[in-house]
Amino acid sequence: MKIAMVGSGYVGLVSGACFADFGHEVVCIDKDTSKIDRLRDGVMPIYEPGLEALVASNVKAGRLSFTTDLAEGIAGAHAVFIAVGTPSRRGDGHADLSFVHAVAREVGESLANDAVVVTKSTVPVGTGDDVERFIAETGCKHRVSVVSNPEFLREGAAIGDFKRPDRIVIGAEDDFGREVMREIYRPLFLNESPILFVSRRSAELIKYAANAFLATKITFINEMADLCEKVGANVQDVSRGIGMDNRIGPKFLHAGPGYGGSCFPKDTLALLKTAEDYDSPVRIVEAVVKTNDSRKRAMGRKVIDALGGPEVARGKKVALLGLTFKPNTDDMRDSPAIAIAQALADAGVEVAGYDPEGMEQAAPLMPEVAMCDSPYAAIEGADAVAIVTEWDAFRALDLARVRELANAPVLVDLRNIYQAGDLREAGFTYHSIGRP
Ligand SMILES: NC(=O)c1ccc[n+]([C@@H]2O[C@H](COP(=O)([O-])OP(=O)(O)OC[C@H]3O[C@@H](n4cnc5c(N)ncnc54)[C@H](O)[C@@H]3O)[C@@H](O)[C@H]2O)c1
Repeated sequence: MKIAMVGSGYVGLVSGACFADFGHEVVCIDKDTSKIDRLRDGVMPIYEPGLEALVASNVKAGRLSFTTDLAEGIAGAHAVFIAVGTPSRRGDGHADLSFVHAVAREVGESLANDAVVVTKSTVPVGTGDDVERFIAETGCKHRVSVVSNPEFLREGAAIGDFKRPDRIVIGAEDDFGREVMREIYRPLFLNESPILFVSRRSAELIKYAANAFLATKITFINEMADLCEKVGANVQDVSRGIGMDNRIGPKFLHAGPGYGGSCFPKDTLALLKTAEDYDSPVRIVEAVVKTNDSRKRAMGRKVIDALGGPEVARGKKVALLGLTFKPNTDDMRDSPAIAIAQALADAGVEVAGYDPEGMEQAAPLMPEVAMCDSPYAAIEGADAVAIVTEWDAFRALDLARVRELANAPVLVDLRNIYQAGDLREAGFTYHSIGRP
């Protein structure tokens, strides 16, 4: 099959490269000229484990190419995927659909053959209807079926997730759309990944419902962690104890500094807006959004308390280890580190930061943070070290070196990657999340 992928970001590039790896002929399109130039030079515009090799081998095999020219890229394509961004709209929190709408119009104007137009971007219910209308309004004479195919991959594990998904959701309204999608995903179907065919509106809602549910699970265990701290229980034991129940499951039950990233914050907010528009409130999600928002800054206060409280903290130095919203990505969108650094800076605390992959993206978002080129450079002279993201590189810090370089042996572990006993034995004052 010939596939065009409009938008070559975290989702478009990974999906395009994986489809090419299945044997399809894929053109990845982006309006960002520097991104396409880098890709043509074999340089990845994002950090995602395994991506560079996957792209290189499929380019070499002649199955994957890149262009900024949409008309050229979609020529002869059986399916045109839309994988552009849908960020929160400034001011009201609705999903900003301007990029999706622009692509729909451009596709309508340029299409030179029958095709299935597939929305892979996360979009509110009813967007497929808009895409269909925008294409029709261009006077496009070809047969077009608009399909919703939400993406569930996780950054940092994106290729594995794409190639071995728990399920593939296809929201199609006609056989043309269903058949082309079945053919595109056939290699996975043969691999026993289930394909769920539903209506377009159901598919659109499935994506938001899934993200809101996962955000709820995280927020639930975070609140349990706070309660554990008050009552003297251990949140890791509580997580294990409830996660062993098959009805609950062990995943997304790790207490931490609050969820961030390119999806949960904007998607929970967009779901609230859809619910409001349809006069069908989702109170649980409202509570999740509020609780998570206040948690990130509260983590800043936790670090300030570890320094001895606001009076003492002013003028002290904190090393933040890990700035991205999770490990194995360079994505800084809505990372808790941003709010934590801001809370520290507001309290007059000097902040030094280090991240294995996210420094380039972090620097403009955290102007108050002095970026360092190693964890130990950040730790030098620090009155407290805070682990914000659980990169593997921080799991086995040289504790003797940390104690030697730091001004005070205080470690705030916002990801619970160390054992309290080990750290205390090494002479640290140790603070974690929801554990005695
Ligand atoms: N990042 C994730 O982990 C993830 C997971 C599942 C779903 N999603 C959803 O996928 C969508 C894309 O997310 P992303 O993280 O890949 O975004 P991104 O910002 O990394 O990539 C979007 C790309 O689209 C390009 N673009 C915008 N308008 C264009 C146009 N008119 N023509 C060509 N290219 C255009 C941009 O230049 C950019 O490179 C979003 O709706 C997101 O919610 C993301």
